Amino acid sequence: MEEQLLSSESFAPSKPIIEFRGVSKTYPGGTHALKDVNIKINKGEFVFVVGSSGAGKSTFMKLIMREEKANTGIIKVNGFNLTNMKRKQVPLLRRTMGIVFQDFRLIPTMNVFQNVAFAMYVVGETGSHIRREVSKALSKVGLGDKARSMPNQLSGGEQQRVGLARALVNSPDLIIADEPTGNVDPNMSYEIVNMLTEINKQGTTILMVTHDHNLVRDFKHRVIMLDGGMIVADNAGGDAE
Ligand SMILES: Nc1ncnc2c1ncn2[C@@H]1O[C@H](COP(=O)(O)OP(=O)(O)OP(=O)(O)O)[C@@H](O)[C@H]1O
Ligand SMILES: [Mg+2]
Repeated sequence: MEEQLLSSESFAPSKPIIEFRGVSKTYPGGTHALKDVNIKINKGEFVFVVGSSGAGKSTFMKLIMREEKANTGIIKVNGFNLTNMKRKQVPLLRRTMGIVFQDFRLIPTMNVFQNVAFAMYVVGETGSHIRREVSKALSKVGLGDKARSMPNQLSGGEQQRVGLARALVNSPDLIIADEPTGNVDPNMSYEIVNMLTEINKQGTTILMVTHDHNLVRDFKHRVIMLDGGMIVADNAGGDAE
């Protein structure tokens, strides 16, 4: 009761799901990919990450997934402190996120249903629960009738929708997508961002790297711009929907 009252207050503090404090990343070899990055992304936000090639966008995403480690600074993601996270804990972090890849990364020997089901199987789900959730995820992305197709029988846009179903099937708090529309045609790019926007409306935080200026212009989401490893623009707060 008290909690309900508190959460309905308009001044209730928003909760960051991602927080970077003074984060720098230098790759072996000496490239300074990120320099003193400070950012907060709140639960429920949809954020585009933009910037020229080499700006540090993928590095930013890889730090969030703990595919790479920061050299300095503090990173918190979904309640996990990545700074001192043990290797054993990484799967627990990953379980809270869905990842969509530019090159789809479907398993070629599995059909559409199996590709999505596999994401549930690896986190220990079983039986009828898998069947139900996979069917739901496939119909959300408009592929209910393609469950038995093999990846090589699908268009690029369809393959990416399988990738999207796989990312959302475990009901993640956060979806991370590094150029998910990089290999699909412009119409399908809009479809995919439309679907991500629908998923976002149901509460999932979305972080998406894109080079597509039209998408950024037409979907009025928060935009973080990286350049030379630094955040050079962020319209947080200026985006009133
Ligand atoms: N594994 C790595 N080892 C060494 N240097 C790397 C590695 N990954 C990225 N870099 C370098 O770090 C910088 C940032 O790379 P990053 O991949 O984050 O850029 P990006 O913004 O995603 O670029 P693009 O738009 O081309 O995908 C670049 O100079 C890149 O060459
Ligand atoms: Mg990249």
